[in-house]
Amino acid sequence: MSKKETKEPAEIRINGKMAKVPVVVGTEGEVGLDIRRLRDELGAIALDPSFSNTGACRSAITYIDGEKGILRYRGIPIEELAEKSTFLEVAYLLIYGKLPDKTGIETFKTLITRHTMVHEDMKNFFANYPLTAHPMAIISSMACSLSSYYPESLVAKGQEDLDLTIARLIAKLPTIAAYSYKKTIGHPMIYPKNNLSYAANFIHMMFSVPAEEYALDPDVERALDILLILHADHEQNCSTSTVRMVGSSQANLFASIAAGICALWGRLHGGANAEVMEMLEAIRKAGGDVKKYIAQVKDGKSGIRLMGFGHRVYKNYDPRANIIKAMCHKLLKKLTVDDDLLKIAMELEDAAIKDSYFIQRKLYPNVDFYSGLIYRAIGIPTNMFTVMFALGRLPGWIAHWKEMREDPELKIGRPRQIYTGPKLTHYTPIEKR
Ligand code: ACO
Repeated sequence: MSKKETKEPAEIRINGKMAKVPVVVGTEGEVGLDIRRLRDELGAIALDPSFSNTGACRSAITYIDGEKGILRYRGIPIEELAEKSTFLEVAYLLIYGKLPDKTGIETFKTLITRHTMVHEDMKNFFANYPLTAHPMAIISSMACSLSSYYPESLVAKGQEDLDLTIARLIAKLPTIAAYSYKKTIGHPMIYPKNNLSYAANFIHMMFSVPAEEYALDPDVERALDILLILHADHEQNCSTSTVRMVGSSQANLFASIAAGICALWGRLHGGANAEVMEMLEAIRKAGGDVKKYIAQVKDGKSGIRLMGFGHRVYKNYDPRANIIKAMCHKLLKKLTVDDDLLKIAMELEDAAIKDSYFIQRKLYPNVDFYSGLIYRAIGIPTNMFTVMFALGRLPGWIAHWKEMREDPELKIGRPRQIYTGPKLTHYTPIEKR
């Protein structure tokens, strides 16, 4: 990892003292101030709640330019990867830092294919969840529970052990995800089929039943693979930062990923795709008046947000949203799905991007705005949308966990705070309170 520092450090002054702060420049010219010694030298910390202006690490995995709407994995534009690559190849690229050669991808695929089944005993866990259990609750706890089946992975000794743990996670999460859905509809678990592609196998486990075979549509298979690619990494987002934070304590990969899945669940993060669908349905139920809905969002009192709009980093069109929007139109046409929610989504987008409230705040559709419509057309229920996001994001989480653990500068993540509570006070016995 490059650690370029400009000749001129920045100077920070406080209470008559001055500290020289090294300036760190990334490969795309991003500038950071390395404030690690600030507290020692000036007695001050950097305060940045929600980390909107804080770099937590140097990373060579993903580059985003939010102003220009650029997203690249290991330098390769997301548009090229969506057009030419496959999800497993992208997973390899993110985790191992370069595109695999023919032998590399075949070995990787074989390793993953060999580990798609979960331990039969794990089925007992599923049996004991209530039918109403949210699939995100199931997959997060199952991801963590995997660690109990592979105790040797807790003390991984070398690259081979780690590769195996990585393959197990990528291979088994779709099996767990599909079963968490089957459980909610009272269907038996469908075992993986290793002659199918990663996306096709997932579709098979979701929609086949023992009584009959599911007829796979190659366009659906490719659409799903592209959606997984588009979700595969997004640098230091909430869930990835969670994975890094948990992993920084030397927690094992399964536990760290489980924590990432939980972070993703929130409605402001991966949960937004399901919320978009609920929002579109609510607008339809109320008569389909998008202008009225936008007025409610803008009035500030309702507390309603336009779900699938806005992004902490993108102050321009989310490049993933562009790809998904085009794919959504194509797939729905091919599947001859006439979804009135698509019409509402398009009207909503059209009205929002022309509205000064959204223009001033630079709020554009994000990755979640159209993805749900594709999932819905494929037959994936709304409560599985965030699970789909988790399946896609898995290689990104793994890549960041691995990069962090291989970083010689690794220390346990431990932010500081500015204390605002009472000054020294003393214990009052209960009878005197
Ligand atoms: N609808 C209406 N207003 C919005 C929206 C929205 N979706 N997003 C932001 N705003 C407004 C805020 O009210 C605020 O207005 P103000 O300056 O008048 O107070 C301003 O825009 C800035 O918003 P913040 O909340 O400060 O922006 P932040 O960067 O913290 O939030 C976030 C980003 C969480 C994504 C936000 O835009 C949002 O809630 N979007 C809807 C949920 C969503 O789609 N999440 C998915 C994100 S992508 C992902 O995780 C994959």
